[in-house]
Amino acid sequence: MSTRCKTAILISGSGTNLQAFIDRVADGELQLELSVVLSNKSDAHGLVRAKNAGIPSVVIDHRQFADRDTFDGAVAAKLNQWQPDLLILAGFMRILSSGFVARYSGRILNIHPALLPAYPGLDTHQRVIDAGDKWHGSTVHFVTEELDGGPRILQGRLPVGSPASSNELATRVQAIEHQIYPEAAGWVGAGRVEFRGGNAWIDGVQTDEPIVQTFDARGNRL
Ligand code: GRF
Repeated sequence: MSTRCKTAILISGSGTNLQAFIDRVADGELQLELSVVLSNKSDAHGLVRAKNAGIPSVVIDHRQFADRDTFDGAVAAKLNQWQPDLLILAGFMRILSSGFVARYSGRILNIHPALLPAYPGLDTHQRVIDAGDKWHGSTVHFVTEELDGGPRILQGRLPVGSPASSNELATRVQAIEHQIYPEAAGWVGAGRVEFRGGNAWIDGVQTDEPIVQTFDARGNRL
């Protein structure tokens, strides 16, 4: 992949991770070309962030489509206008069809708010609190057909402590996400991290374990 790889960011909501990408590109720390932001929701606040940053955006409302395959086909056809090298799922709340994942095989990244393989799916923060876990965090991974199951690249972890609520814990985890997601995407964009034969390769070495970075309870990098 080129060092200035064309990147599409897919969102459904507030877009704080999108904002982190915008900020890192603006300050010169991240060498990606943010080509387009695509949302399945017209009221996603991330669309405002894209506009403020001068990034083209499109809305494709999944409710206008009969099924997942036709929605995904419309998304792929629209993205094709920008010929993206890399797709960043940043709070995109749609499960992608196998055809879509195959089309962009090894070129789709997601961030999931848990230390995968623990807690795939929803409500991760409350599940961590209920289990009394000591550590929580977020994982950047390649997207495969298996939900939240693709090869992991980078994890950020923090001590759970005694959170007042799952929202409070979510906020702290998001502070980590805003650091690790642009960083991991930059590695992929620069070709340091690759998806080959169903596995993640980091600096030319096939790896089953992600790189793990540890943060303090507030989400500051240690
Ligand atoms: C993030 O917490 C991410 O882990 C999950 O969706 C959330 C998106 O938040 N996949 P935002 O829209 O980037 O603020």
